[in-house]
Amino acid sequence: MGGWSSERPVSLMSGEGIVKALKERGFTRVTPLDMGHDVAQRLAEIKPDVVFNALHGTPGEDGTIQGLLDLMEIPYTHSGLTTSAIAIDKELTKAVLVPHGVRMPKGKVVESKTLYEGDPMARPYVLKPVNEGSSVGVAIVTDEGNYGLPISAKAEGPWLHFERLLAEPFIRGRELTVAVLGDEALCVTELKPKAGFYDFDAKYTDGLTEHVCPADVPPHIAQEMLEMALAAHRLLGCKGASRSDFRWDDTQGEAGIYLLEVNTQPGMTPLSLVPEQARQKGISYGELVERIIAEALV
Ligand code: DAL
Ligand code: MG
Repeated sequence: MGGWSSERPVSLMSGEGIVKALKERGFTRVTPLDMGHDVAQRLAEIKPDVVFNALHGTPGEDGTIQGLLDLMEIPYTHSGLTTSAIAIDKELTKAVLVPHGVRMPKGKVVESKTLYEGDPMARPYVLKPVNEGSSVGVAIVTDEGNYGLPISAKAEGPWLHFERLLAEPFIRGRELTVAVLGDEALCVTELKPKAGFYDFDAKYTDGLTEHVCPADVPPHIAQEMLEMALAAHRLLGCKGASRSDFRWDDTQGEAGIYLLEVNTQPGMTPLSLVPEQARQKGISYGELVERIIAEALV
């Protein structure tokens, strides 16, 4: 858990939940490890039977830690090196999934410094770092103004910290998500932020977003999203658990469903969506943790 990505605080929350659950379920040798640059040395000392990877962002979700664990021959939860490296990059993810018929917004990668020159595409659009999570660095730019990072601050703003940005047409409509556990798509949840969009604060502050699970959408729409999430999980070669995030333009029926991205290290915090969907399917948080570990040991 932990590490040094922008999602460090989220990872610490995920990790604390997992440690607590494992202890409650009678596991005696549970060693929380806040990852530092000495991680290889610490792992060599601890000699774990298995690592529960509760890291989010880089380098815990991008294949780096997966490569280290492969070299050390330590089993670990969630996806392997190649899947992680592809899925962390929203553009690479499209390159794999779109040719297989998975509908995703047609994006354009831009270098942050080109934003000095103006809009990278017609408004409304979304601007996001290609390889961040938890909506870090995301802006929605419309004719009326923008949510998230102000476009006027683009030149000197935090975007310059991100090497590459992805601009995508903004899909008006609804925000939904589907967790895949093992080889089963669990449920569709709709996220209804009380203000603005489902940004970092709306994700992790209790009460700022209403979660509707199962989502109040027509059955064929829910079915299509479950199938798309499962297809994405399989095509990318995900393991353990993944979560696919969607937008649905509800004026367009099935043709309005767009997959935005696949998260290979989905959050496990008290407000996170994979535990919530598991609970909806009768799987407690503790059972979820054990099932993810069991898949790592197969
Ligand atoms: N990136 C966050 C942790 C998520 O996908 O849940
Ligand atoms: Mg994400």
